[in-house]
Amino acid sequence: MQWFKVLNTAQIPTFDSIKTIAVNGKQVCIIKTAGKIYATQSFCPHAGGNFGGGWCKNGQLVCPIHRYAYNLETGRGAEGQGDYINIFPTELREDGLYIGFKESWWSKLWG
Ligand code: FES
Repeated sequence: MQWFKVLNTAQIPTFDSIKTIAVNGKQVCIIKTAGKIYATQSFCPHAGGNFGGGWCKNGQLVCPIHRYAYNLETGRGAEGQGDYINIFPTELREDGLYIGFKESWWSKLWG
């Protein structure tokens, strides 16, 4: 697992939001909802929509283009979609928010 600091403590959202940021030149969505922080891939596997314009509903991330929904804990698409998104582990440390990438995810996504 390789950890990257993505936000300073002062930048960590205190309210529900979806923020697209660059990590090592690539885009990741940082999502705050229901008091938790998630990190996901920024593009929708359906047709490439940007989750940065989406919203959260009942623990799911909803794409703004065709409203496909993805479970924020597992990454699984809603019933009938048959797809998934990558959810990256997050860790709040004293100096900010970190995201972890497994080598295989890293290679597949950014390789
Ligand atoms: S591009 Fe996201 S639902 Fe179609």
